[in-house]
Amino acid sequence: MAGRFEVGVVGSGYVGLVTGACLAHLGHRVRCIDKDEDRVRGLTSARMPFYEPGLEELVSRGVRSGRLSFAGSEGLRQLADETDVVFIAVETPQGQDGSADLSSVAAVARSIGRALAEPPPRSPWRERPLIVVNKSTVPVGSGDYVSMLVREGIEEEACKGGHYYDGEEDDAPQAFVVASNPEFLREGSAVYDSLFAERIVVGSDSREALDTLRVLYEPIIEQSFPTELDPRPKIAVPFVTTDLVSAEMIKYASNAFLATKISFINEISNLCELVGADVGEVAYGLGLDGRIGPRFLSAGIGWGGSCFPKDLSALRAVAREYEHETPLLEAAVSVNDKQRKRVVGKLQRELHTLKGKRVALLGLSFKPNTDDLRGAPSLEIAELLDALGARVVCYDPVAGKKAVCKFPADSTKVVFDPYEALREAHAAVVVTEWEEFRELDLERVASLMHKPPLLIDGRNALDAERAKAAGIRYRGFGRG
Ligand SMILES: NC(=O)c1ccc[n+]([C@@H]2O[C@H](COP(=O)([O-])OP(=O)(O)OC[C@H]3O[C@@H](n4cnc5c(N)ncnc54)[C@H](O)[C@@H]3O)[C@@H](O)[C@H]2O)c1
Repeated sequence: MAGRFEVGVVGSGYVGLVTGACLAHLGHRVRCIDKDEDRVRGLTSARMPFYEPGLEELVSRGVRSGRLSFAGSEGLRQLADETDVVFIAVETPQGQDGSADLSSVAAVARSIGRALAEPPPRSPWRERPLIVVNKSTVPVGSGDYVSMLVREGIEEEACKGGHYYDGEEDDAPQAFVVASNPEFLREGSAVYDSLFAERIVVGSDSREALDTLRVLYEPIIEQSFPTELDPRPKIAVPFVTTDLVSAEMIKYASNAFLATKISFINEISNLCELVGADVGEVAYGLGLDGRIGPRFLSAGIGWGGSCFPKDLSALRAVAREYEHETPLLEAAVSVNDKQRKRVVGKLQRELHTLKGKRVALLGLSFKPNTDDLRGAPSLEIAELLDALGARVVCYDPVAGKKAVCKFPADSTKVVFDPYEALREAHAAVVVTEWEEFRELDLERVASLMHKPPLLIDGRNALDAERAKAAGIRYRGFGRG
């Protein structure tokens, strides 16, 4: 099988756009489509829809090489006609009952089916089945659901037009096969994570799909794609092949584990505050144990974002379908919910009433190096403070513009300079650990703030001693 593929990506968001740009970098010809016409117009003129380090450069290179292009939803037909592999990378937000809302995935699956059955200007049968790869995070069993919907789309179109092909004829080659390829990239380092992946997981009942995806990803697996990084951070990348359901479960289990690990250290951090221990020291000693590892042991405000909250919720919803209890997951969520409120508790302990107090929130995005505000703790903290009568002033190095429309104009204000946010503030809260905050001139901070200046470090990101030396009352999380 040739090593260069025609690839389609449906959904040009954080996952779809990064996947498309990286696959084009590997040498494949990739067409990314999105239903958001503004987004497509922007991408066509090299305007990024969101902030992600390294992505603009990769997209521009892909477009210049002629291997990366963009189209609106109408482009789906062409994908079904001309590509070997189509990735579904649309959103799967949390539904009202906590389960994953699969309506976007379902719409795409049906459309792919309809496109496959439309009367072809090309040869009547695809030589090989189209490989429909689910990259969206979907609950266990969704692979079969996607299969069903693609088939329904085929049938719908065939009934409508009386076409000669309904995907069911005995002698017809299979029109499509479905695979799951969960995504593990982290916003803020998405390009790096995709090219230097820790693992690639693919699940399918089709040997052909698994083999094709192995060849598609070969330049990553063997780390043979061009890179300016010398030496390469990776030698080879494990390619894990499994069944559909297990692949889907690997994604949920990974996110549930990481979220639980953060909640675990936060629980320990709260105990550290009571007994006078320093959670930083504790996490260091703990993380040196090879069975535990040092990552995801940072105490603070807790996790947020577009994935952990909704994925834990979806996993719990799956368990409920089986009337199965998940006490560990419930506890991880409950600890996390309390951490955000602890910020407010710390402010109240120091400032007493928050009515009329000015509080600067430093960092709005749910993590550094992204402008993604989905599930960002900053939004909830601002709301809690606003409800208590505080005047909230926010600053973020890149998410400020996006944040403006998130806050009611008469309460929370967004400014574009950190020192402006801090001016006359009774307290500052580090919500997101942007590198920029570690480099703040703390003497200047202290001089600008209301006296005595108070800093709640929600990420234990700043040097407590430096802050104290600058005359700032410093309060971290679990720092004795
Ligand atoms: N963002 C992450 O860090 C991350 C990491 C791993 C997995 N995931 C999962 O990947 C999936 C996508 O997440 P995301 O953050 O990229 O979402 P996103 O909201 O950034 O992007 C989704 C895109 O799909 C487009 N879209 C929706 N329906 C469409 C349709 N019918 N046709 C064409 N385009 C359509 C939307 O317009 C949007 O641009 C989710 O299931 C998410 O859980 C996300």
